Amino acid sequence: MKVLVVGSGGRENALAWKLAQSEKVSRVYGAPGNPGIARIGECVEIEPTNIKALADFAEKEGIDLTVVGPEAPLVKGIVNEFERRGLKIFGPTKEAARLEGSKAFAKEVMKKYQVPTADFKIFTDPKEAKEYVKKVGAPIVVKADGLAAGKGVIVAKSVSEAVEAVEKIMEEKVFGEAGNKVVIEECLEGEEASYLVITDGERFIPLATSQDHKAVFDNDQGPNTGGMGAYSPAPVLSEELEREVQEKVIAPIIKGMKEEGAPFKGVLYAGLMITERGIKVLEFNVRFGDPEAQAILRRLESDLFEVCLSAVEGNLVKELKWKPETSVCVVLASKGYPGKYEKGKVITGIEEAEKVPTVVVFHAGTKEVNGKLLTNGGRVLNVTALGRDIIEARERAYRAVEKIHFEGMHYRKDIGLKAVKRLKGE
Ligand code: AMP
Ligand code: GLY
Repeated sequence: MKVLVVGSGGRENALAWKLAQSEKVSRVYGAPGNPGIARIGECVEIEPTNIKALADFAEKEGIDLTVVGPEAPLVKGIVNEFERRGLKIFGPTKEAARLEGSKAFAKEVMKKYQVPTADFKIFTDPKEAKEYVKKVGAPIVVKADGLAAGKGVIVAKSVSEAVEAVEKIMEEKVFGEAGNKVVIEECLEGEEASYLVITDGERFIPLATSQDHKAVFDNDQGPNTGGMGAYSPAPVLSEELEREVQEKVIAPIIKGMKEEGAPFKGVLYAGLMITERGIKVLEFNVRFGDPEAQAILRRLESDLFEVCLSAVEGNLVKELKWKPETSVCVVLASKGYPGKYEKGKVITGIEEAEKVPTVVVFHAGTKEVNGKLLTNGGRVLNVTALGRDIIEARERAYRAVEKIHFEGMHYRKDIGLKAVKRLKGE
């Protein structure tokens, strides 16, 4: 079977790596892919949002299954177009992808189906939004309605910061049309966790729990990024809490989306805050998390191709097998990320890093030029490792990180420390 992975980041490298392990898969393609994907498959120069070109390629090449990494093509309707042409594709339709594509839509659905989430109000008029912020005070969270590459959420510590956020999003339109509406919501406190399930639109099967590290610096300081590292499992999600998430969040959303006439197929990702008053949903994503996927897929024993195909065909597998080990993923980023950064720095040491037991290095933002590997993005590499516990997994991952070099490289040194503290009962 031939599989096409849409996207070019570390998540897509991990997906391609895992799919290529399936006995049923003979060839993996990445569009546009990256040098990490090129190690295991073939890269084709088509951008993820060029839906027509991707469908043409899948038809011409006889692709048996397409797996979509990023949200943009899903929100734009890649699944609708592939399904129209009778091509098998893993992911939600654009109607279902609104759960990520419109934060206002997601909040309305949560309210309707009584899914626990922060109290909120939706505004289309910046003046009213600003008045509301001034009335309720800070801290408060301002969210652009549409897609904003993970930058559309401002957790404002003061009223003036929140007012400024409204102005940037709704008046200056820094995220374009994504800022036609804003969601303003109560600021929650607690520990975050990611809960991902695979669903065929009726039933779901949970993936292993994980935790992302969104802020750029250690101890969750600095601006938010796409994610600086992850680990799996996340002990903050006890079995009891997991059951709560399944019953109060996942099941009602899947049922609700079906009732809304937009059944959800693919990966449903709930970003959660574990508060003192229980679980609350921060957001939904309609795809695998990046870098959660890298941590989760390192632990998956089952055949990912079979799992994805079963969801597409509406006969979801009943069970997933997991390695008992803990996994860690450390993101190596370019100097300046998540702000402006330079590209084209020479990368060395990946081979040495992969000599550390269990270590696999996924490529996120890299490019090969004349046989040299260069940086080509904000998040450059993902160093993943397994261990019998979080301590051993961290030790291996960071030992491997030390072998890798590129000018300006920076990374968080505390990936997984929250789990270490829990393990030690601190
Ligand atoms: P989102 O894209 O909605 O997940 O937001 C990005 C990040 O902003 C989350 O991972 C949280 O760290 C933070 N965040 C979002 N909503 C809230 C909230 N209501 N209270 C506190 N932090 C939030
Ligand atoms: N790591 C967060 C995300 O994929 O949205």
